[in-house]
Formats: sequence, C-alpha cells, structure tokens
Amino acid sequence: MKFFIDTANLDQIKEAQALGVLDGVTTNPSLMAKEGITGKDNILKHYVHICNIVEGDVSAEVVATDLEGMIREGEELADLHEQIVVKIPMIKDGVKALKYFSDKGIRTNCTLVFSPGQALLAAKAGATYVSPFLGRLDDISTDGLNLISEIRLIYDNYDFETQILAASIRHTMHVIDCAKIGADVMTGPLSSIEGLLKHPLTDIGLAKFLEDYKKGNP
Ligand code: G3P
Repeated sequence: MKFFIDTANLDQIKEAQALGVLDGVTTNPSLMAKEGITGKDNILKHYVHICNIVEGDVSAEVVATDLEGMIREGEELADLHEQIVVKIPMIKDGVKALKYFSDKGIRTNCTLVFSPGQALLAAKAGATYVSPFLGRLDDISTDGLNLISEIRLIYDNYDFETQILAASIRHTMHVIDCAKIGADVMTGPLSSIEGLLKHPLTDIGLAKFLEDYKKGNP
C-alpha cells in the first residue's frame, strides 16, 4: 500500500518524507488556498517545491472544467516535473481528458469520485489513479469504505490497472480499513500516518525495558 500525504504544507510534507514511508503527495485547490498559495505562477512553483522534497508522485489539479482548458492546463502541469500526475475532476469533459492524457502517456488522477459507476468510467478512460472520497461520504451518513470495496471488486473482475487511491482519509482507522480492503494507495493528513505509530503498550513496554536496563547498568 502506498502512502500519500494530502496537503500542500511543505513542513508537513518534509516531516512525512523524513519518516521514510512516504510515496507521494496529493493536493487540490482548497489545500493550496489553505497554505496561502495563490496566483498561477506561485502555484506552479509550489508544485515544483513539493516535487523536490518527495521522490514519488505529486498530484496537481486542473481548474478548467472544459476539455480544451483541462488539456492545456494538464499539459502545462505535466511539463513542470516528471513526478507530476494531472488531477482531473469526474465530469463529462474530465472523462474525455482522462482518455486524451492516457493516450499520450501522461499520468492522471481522477478526483471527486463518489460512486462505483464513476470509478468504472475513470478506469475505462485509462486513469492512472481513481480517488474515491471516503471521508466526505461518511460525512453524509453514507458508507465510504463500502465504496472502496465495490471499486476493488469491479477493478479485480476486469483486471483494470487503475490504482484505487483512497482519498479524504480522516484518521488511522480509515487507513487500516482501506489496507484490509486492498486500496492501492491512501492519501490523508500527517496525523493519519503518524497515528499508526501509537499504542500505549508500546510506551509502557519501552519505559519498563529502559527501567530494567538502568537497574542492571547503574
Ligand atoms: O484527497 C482528497 C481530499 O483532499 C479531500 O479531503 O478531508 O477535504 O474531504 P477532505
């Protein structure tokens, strides 16, 4: 399972990278705005900064919603750095753009996916990654994890190569449940990765080991 961090915050990306388990980064216009990164030039520069911190894939989202615009922006993003994956929304022109980029060998991440049918379309169009937003489904009392299971079943039925990127992960149990289901990738905040570390018995056990060591080695 690949671990992506879902942020545009450089400090958090560096911290996750330093842990040694980071495989990539996902961003979106909201995450960029949260960091105060505005204006096309600054946004493009920020993507390059992120690519220089991590070794893996960095999803960069188009903001156009028409085919021509998405193609223009996506090609510009892909030219920025070899690690860039073009993030395309699940809309009609988005499906066409996924197919266009797939035919050109440009990697894509189909975002804002909330149903198995949308995920099937993304795979048919040749998306590299599909991003079902499980946290946002949970937010409206719908079982987000069930969507991940349904997509896994459909993709396995037909050996689709599109990777399931479980997105809108909110906490460690989402990560663990997605790993059980077989999501290829999860993207979440730093807390969802670092939270996996925590267990009180680890802390109690370590304190006891150190205490016993000190007794034998005063
Ligand atoms: O990767 C998608 C993600 O950015 C959405 O997460 O927490 O805003 O639902 P959230």
